[in-house]
Amino acid sequence: MGAFAECSWYSLVLCSIGSVTVVYYLLKWSWLFWHGFKVYVLSEIWQTNLRKYGQWAVVTGATSGIGRAYAEELAKRGLDIVLISRSEDKLCSVAKEIESRYKRQTHVIQADFTEGHSIYSTITQQLEGLQIGILVNNVGMNYIGVLANFLDVPDPDQRITQVINCNTLSVPQMCRLVLPSMLERGKGLIINISSEAAFQPQPMLSVYSATKIFVTYFSRCLHAEYRAKGITVQCVTPFVVSTNMTHNMPVNPLVKSATSFAKDALNTVGYTTYTSGCLTHALQHIALSVFFPGWLRLTSFCVQHMANFARSVEPKLRERMAETNNKQD
Ligand SMILES: NC(=O)c1ccc[n+]([C@@H]2O[C@H](COP(=O)([O-])OP(=O)(O)OC[C@H]3O[C@@H](n4cnc5c(N)ncnc54)[C@H](OP(=O)(O)O)[C@@H]3O)[C@@H](O)[C@H]2O)c1
Repeated sequence: MGAFAECSWYSLVLCSIGSVTVVYYLLKWSWLFWHGFKVYVLSEIWQTNLRKYGQWAVVTGATSGIGRAYAEELAKRGLDIVLISRSEDKLCSVAKEIESRYKRQTHVIQADFTEGHSIYSTITQQLEGLQIGILVNNVGMNYIGVLANFLDVPDPDQRITQVINCNTLSVPQMCRLVLPSMLERGKGLIINISSEAAFQPQPMLSVYSATKIFVTYFSRCLHAEYRAKGITVQCVTPFVVSTNMTHNMPVNPLVKSATSFAKDALNTVGYTTYTSGCLTHALQHIALSVFFPGWLRLTSFCVQHMANFARSVEPKLRERMAETNNKQD
């Protein structure tokens, strides 16, 4: 009789723990499902009116890839566009195309973000008098075009500074330029493009991955500081998008085209301030966090396998890089 009473007491405790755990996971997964549905499905039907933020949108790194796609999609949604990149020729050609296709005004600013602090006074002058409602901090570069160890890049001394200036310094500096007038008007949207490579430490992309976690943390803190004053700061963390940076990989269910990525990601504005940008990238993010967690990526075993993989695909990537460079010339 005593043994039976003890047994049922234990069973009751175990049952309660089990029930609480099941309810916890049911609620958690229901909330995640609802959040995902809202951000990636409902957002396609009810889109935020982006024109409400102001007349102009500024896009850095706007002549190709994700930046160009954002510039075009924003023009399509009724904004005039300021395009910033290095090459004057490419800027003029993209600006002309936007003007003729979407009947919006454009303004181009030629600047090289690898040069660091010195470029921002010129950008400030060029932005004067424009009512800037949206800033897309998109410009970014890889440390080297393939997966590689920290020292396996020609002239690391130069490269480290260039990547940090371009990927990291540009983000708070550009925010500093546009925020005061947004605050005066009590509204504004800043979109900072980080990367999935920031979610966990990423060996063989060490400098890139570290610069991108800066963008993520900075964006989330900035949003917390200024949301009450009408400013939205959204951090976008894409997986693979087919662009020059990714050697124009063929588009497939996992790899998005820049145009379709920018469209989906802009739909999420007003629904979330931290997003993978589109449904397929969000699903890949969940799968990767479960099956390839940070601790596993950091093991010597994994790093060795990544190095072998990088060596095996390097000739093909170099070929693609040469093709891309030829096309750009
Ligand atoms: N593609 C992906 O799979 C992926 C994934 C995650 C995150 N991202 C992030 O998304 C952003 C855009 O990447 P992307 O793939 O679209 O790159 P991309 O195709 O290489 O385009 C980069 C753009 O930035 C401009 N640019 C490059 N260096 C510059 C510099 N020093 N100063 C001024 N402009 C510069 C380029 O134009 P010019 O050459 O004319 O200057 C071009 O317009 C980056 O921040 C990247 O880290 C990309």
